[in-house]
Amino acid sequence: MIVLGIESSCDDTGAAIVSDSKEILGEALQSQEEHKQYGGVVPEIAARAHLEHVDEIVNICLQRAHVDLKEVDAIAASCGPGLIGGVVVGAMTAKALALALNKPFVAVNHLEGHALCARIAHPIEFPYLLLLVSGGHCQILVVKNVGEYQRLGTTIDDAAGEAFDKVAKMLGLGYPGGPMIEKLAATGDDSRFTLPRPLIGSGDCNLSFSGLKTAVRKIIESYTDDGNIDHAILPKQDVADICACFQMTATDCLVKKLERAIKYFKQNYPSGQHVVVSGGVASNTYLRGKLKELAEKYNLEFAAPPIRFCTDNGVMVAWAGLERYRLGLVNDLDFKPRPRWPLDENAPKAAGAGGVKA
Ligand code: KG4
Ligand code: ZN
Repeated sequence: MIVLGIESSCDDTGAAIVSDSKEILGEALQSQEEHKQYGGVVPEIAARAHLEHVDEIVNICLQRAHVDLKEVDAIAASCGPGLIGGVVVGAMTAKALALALNKPFVAVNHLEGHALCARIAHPIEFPYLLLLVSGGHCQILVVKNVGEYQRLGTTIDDAAGEAFDKVAKMLGLGYPGGPMIEKLAATGDDSRFTLPRPLIGSGDCNLSFSGLKTAVRKIIESYTDDGNIDHAILPKQDVADICACFQMTATDCLVKKLERAIKYFKQNYPSGQHVVVSGGVASNTYLRGKLKELAEKYNLEFAAPPIRFCTDNGVMVAWAGLERYRLGLVNDLDFKPRPRWPLDENAPKAAGAGGVKA
């Protein structure tokens, strides 16, 4: 069984073909450079760029896979959550191919792509505990099965990746901010500045990064005469120190809340064996290291997708599409792309969801 998947929900146009024996037959990815100068993704530019590149990306993927479209069993696309212009492009492309070839169409929730992606590389059984940390989302979930999620916590303001991006922007490090902050943090002193850990004592699994970001802004402001951070001139080492302090504090917030969630998970899902991290921020090796230590402390196995599959890509969509297709979870061609699409929307509200005390 082989499935073609298309990703276009943010600023990456991706396509991949994967098989049920977990082989990646071919893939292609175009990350849009157009947004760099704006310090963030510009939706209109993203939509146009997806439209311009999607056919070519699908063709390159097919060529690399040495697969003819007729051999594909189903066609999947990220249909949300995400930027409406982008998801419309991916969904329409997949639907058009499905219609022309008379193949099933699978509407993939982009977050489910991140959630299931680690299962390609690792033998991870359900249920597992997931920390999903990307540019748009920051959630702790129990992945009970394909399409079955219990959300234990979420950010009440910024997503983790968004916080990395905003801090990087304030420091003039460009977009996306995560990789640059990670690089500079490696040479920084993470004890130089004390930053707040918002919501750390809230007694649930929710997260907040807005206050942390504001604290970084205040530090940068202290390097100016007029309070305008665009006028701040920071010595290189100070930039590295801020990066190290921010990365360490943000990671600590994630670790503390995941620890609460682990206690709940072990009590309520005793058969669960794995703690998984996914999404763009999961490419951060410092975070991966801390999460591995945490999982081991609780005798759980830690798993994450290979780093290149943490940020958005076609493989995660093709794989989630395949997992859904083999369970018969296909969609009609009148499925409407959904810019907002919570992963746990059909889940019965289990006791403790959203407010897990540990
Ligand atoms: O999953 P993703 O590609 O897109 C969304 O679905 O949002 O995640 C992109 C996010 C960006 O905010 C980026 O700064 C962050 O992932 N990111 C990182 C790293 N690499 C990417 N954050 C921290 N450390 C990294 N190495
Ligand atoms: Zn994503």
